[in-house]
Amino acid sequence: MSARVAVLASGGGSNLQAIVDYLDTLAPRAGASVELVASDRVAAGALERARARGIATVHLDAARRGDAMADLLESYDVDVIALAGYLRFVPAAVTQRWRGRILNVHPSLLPAFGGAGMYGLRVHQAVLDAGVRVTGATVHFVDEEYDRGPIIAQWPVPVLSHDTAETLARRVLVAEHALFPRAVHGVAEERITLGPDGRVAGVGESFPECAVFALASVDGPPAVSDVFANQRAP
Ligand code: GRF
Repeated sequence: MSARVAVLASGGGSNLQAIVDYLDTLAPRAGASVELVASDRVAAGALERARARGIATVHLDAARRGDAMADLLESYDVDVIALAGYLRFVPAAVTQRWRGRILNVHPSLLPAFGGAGMYGLRVHQAVLDAGVRVTGATVHFVDEEYDRGPIIAQWPVPVLSHDTAETLARRVLVAEHALFPRAVHGVAEERITLGPDGRVAGVGESFPECAVFALASVDGPPAVSDVFANQRAP
């Protein structure tokens, strides 16, 4: 039985695209498919990407962003929810009903540089302002607090001396596009699970060892294949 994935997004949808493209590479044995894309923004690029793929779309207007969201997702028989740049708070009716099957991707190494109001370029500017040398991407289960759910996987990304928030965002996005689809697929196939004790299980077998990131070109992200080229530390 193939898991039905809903993706919630507020922006351009590159993470949505990465999930769809990754599942395409696994077809016909992907075991999961994106069946719904919903956005609080009627003009979100994510909705355009979904329509281009013939995926059902819904605009989450004010009436649908509250507890009614659970009924909407139920009406699409959703098994797994991926928050791919969704900027609104997800109601507890949803996070509780889909506990252990709702994931979020965040462009920093949580818990650092996370929480309410920390999204988009603000995250990367805070990283630069703090002077840290390593940032990265985090995928975590979603609970009732912003960016605080049990962490599934993280991927380190170097901060370069001449980085701007924009160049850093581009480099971290490559890591997100490598990590998030694999996490969503792992949860959809129930290889990655969240136990009653709040502990995450099954990640070790589901991901290649954390890659040692070659310093990515600031002129543009490396191909994802480069990301995994040296997946084992030298
Ligand atoms: C990503 O950087 C993600 O980490 C954050 O919002 C951004 C969404 O980008 N939550 P996109 O819409 O997937 O391109």
